[in-house]
Amino acid sequence: MSRTVIHGGLVITASDEIHADVLVEGGRVAALAAPGTDAAAGWSAERRIDATGKYVIPGGVDAHTHMEMPFGGTYAADTFETGTRAAAWGGTTTIVDFAIQSMGRSLREGLDAWFEKADGRCAVDYGFHMILSDVNESSLKEMDRLVAEGITSFKLFMAYPGVFYSDDGQILRAMQRASGNGGLIMMHAENGIAIDVLVEQALAEGRTDPRYHGDVRKVALEAEATHRAVQLARVAGAPLYVVHVSADEAVAEIAAARHKGLPVFGETCPQYLFLSTDNLAEPDFEGAKYVCSTPLRPREHQEALWRGLRNNELQVVSTDHCPFCFSGQKEMGRGDFSKIPNGMPGVEHRMDLLHQAVVEGHISRRRWIEIACAAPARMFGLYPRKGTIAPGTDADIVVYDPEAEQVLSAETHHMNVDYSAYEGKRITGRVETVLSRGVPVIEDGAYVGHAGHGAYVPRGLSQNL
Ligand code: URP
Ligand code: ZN
Ligand code: ZN
Repeated sequence: MSRTVIHGGLVITASDEIHADVLVEGGRVAALAAPGTDAAAGWSAERRIDATGKYVIPGGVDAHTHMEMPFGGTYAADTFETGTRAAAWGGTTTIVDFAIQSMGRSLREGLDAWFEKADGRCAVDYGFHMILSDVNESSLKEMDRLVAEGITSFKLFMAYPGVFYSDDGQILRAMQRASGNGGLIMMHAENGIAIDVLVEQALAEGRTDPRYHGDVRKVALEAEATHRAVQLARVAGAPLYVVHVSADEAVAEIAAARHKGLPVFGETCPQYLFLSTDNLAEPDFEGAKYVCSTPLRPREHQEALWRGLRNNELQVVSTDHCPFCFSGQKEMGRGDFSKIPNGMPGVEHRMDLLHQAVVEGHISRRRWIEIACAAPARMFGLYPRKGTIAPGTDADIVVYDPEAEQVLSAETHHMNVDYSAYEGKRITGRVETVLSRGVPVIEDGAYVGHAGHGAYVPRGLSQNL
């Protein structure tokens, strides 16, 4: 059985920071011991990693990605191969992507199609949520079977009428089913019916630039939908996870629900923490690079998001990685912002951006690991196999250099997209080595992994409830 020792580093988990030597055996963490144990006892190992002056952290768990997603008349530009490789570069060792049920089709057909896309191609481990586009008697029954198989979370949309949209009755039925089978409902909370009216009016008045995408997708319509989702979940007796929360008033709705003791959880994404409507307003159609939904908000909203992350009103930071190239894809919406494919790249930069948040004092080191590794693993039934470093867990381990400096750029990133949403941003901290189940994927800043190493991980029920 292959053995690796990581010695001399500061091991950071969501609960502890300890200087320790780590022994990895056969893909799992075998032991943590006092620093110097390896030097004194001479653990036998094929590979020794000197982590002196470095952090030793769990591999990131990105619970919200869309590789190869068909959307807005095109496909997200990262395949499972390119996207999971980029994830590895950024210290993320597990993704949970979204399989899609097409209108009029079964959940099973959608799921099979996503297994086909991912199988044999991933650099790191992966699981699936299921997007419900067509809630009916038969898809409701299928939910039970999927939960039993390890697809334990289901995304519903209050936005995108005619595409993924579900009405309140369909949402209530899906929530009732989840309440019975233990599944977790994930909600895209925006009032899509009202937004479509505002889109039509904006275009009729000649407001066609990317920044109007942000204008029409109003804060009030995110907050209203969040409130409605909470009430529907309450009536159904189901837990609720609100995805990509961007507005201060939506955070307030989640906080109020949690204050009442309701099992309501919230996720935000780096783009809402670091970017704003200023980016959407960039001239020469450059704002299209930042079109995603929920939309970027005025900078003032960021403080509520950071506070929410510190206070546990928000539990998870995922990327909602859904990249479209500027050239040929985002450009589809020149002259009509509603035709810009919605989504942004990010899977490679989440761990670094959140480390930058540590450097800037927004969150502590342990909170960094909690929101990027442990909480998503618990939320989606992967803990403690993923999300922490302890005897018996998968040896998904990142050696992180907290002093290294880097500048984010499309020239140097590994995502299959022709721009960076963070072009020129300086970051303190960098991934040095990444192990996925004990196997090196990134070694001294070079990719040494391969497509097909990443394995499908069936998930248990959410452990946050
Ligand atoms: O703009 C976004 N977020 N695109 C991906 C689909 C979604 O709603 O998560
Ligand atoms: Zn969404
Ligand atoms: Zn998404």
